[in-house]
Amino acid sequence: MNRNLSGILSKLLASASLLAASTVFAAGNTSAEQSQYLEESRKVAQEFMQTLGGTLKKQLALGGAESAIGVCKEIAPALANEYSKNGRVVKRVSLKNRNPVQGVPDAWEQNVLAGFDLAQQQGKPLSGMEVSTVRDEADGRWFRYMKAIPTQAMCLQCHGQPSDISEGVRALLLKEYPQDKAVGYSEGQVRGAISIKRLLEVMPVTD
Ligand code: HEC
Repeated sequence: MNRNLSGILSKLLASASLLAASTVFAAGNTSAEQSQYLEESRKVAQEFMQTLGGTLKKQLALGGAESAIGVCKEIAPALANEYSKNGRVVKRVSLKNRNPVQGVPDAWEQNVLAGFDLAQQQGKPLSGMEVSTVRDEADGRWFRYMKAIPTQAMCLQCHGQPSDISEGVRALLLKEYPQDKAVGYSEGQVRGAISIKRLLEVMPVTD
């Protein structure tokens, strides 16, 4: 990471850590905690996307798309880690993911992403498109939240049609992400979602 980028990153992380203070869930309570987690998730999603989007825009203007690949490659996962605290897990996922590990949606996330795509195709606005629920999963009861991430014009130079992507960017992406699926998008489509989950209760073992 170059010095400029790491300077930006440390500033970002300092502000992100303000969010670290959050309450521990008391088993048995439901709706009050759930609405609190919904509010918290909305706040995290908004801050995450604003921080990342702002940094990306700056780096694109400063050094162009090739240099900005580092923002997505290093800062996005660093921010996700920074926000993943106190039982909260934050990721960015997509049906056509670039990150071959963190970008892969689980079965529930796949359904939600397909629902977001459908809603977008039906003309629903992407801003504020979100889902939240409480789910019993194999390892416990989870609060789950997802918010759609719209494809903006500035995203196309790394996620657009072949004609939107320069030779240099294409070569770097191929090198870093040989299994990249995150291309072929147009402005206004759902690029993916921010997905936030929080363990509410560990399931009792049944046999
Ligand atoms: C300079 C190139 C570049 C630009 C511009 C760019 N991205 Fe990305 N994007 C990447 C890279 C590289 C990754 C993989 C990051 C990683 O390793 O986690 C990525 C990953 C993602 C992911 C995570 C899911 C996945 O596919 O693995 C989302 C969501 C995403 N980008 C959305 C956007 C949006 C929205 C924009 C525009 C606001 C945008 N990107 C602009 C390069 C870019």
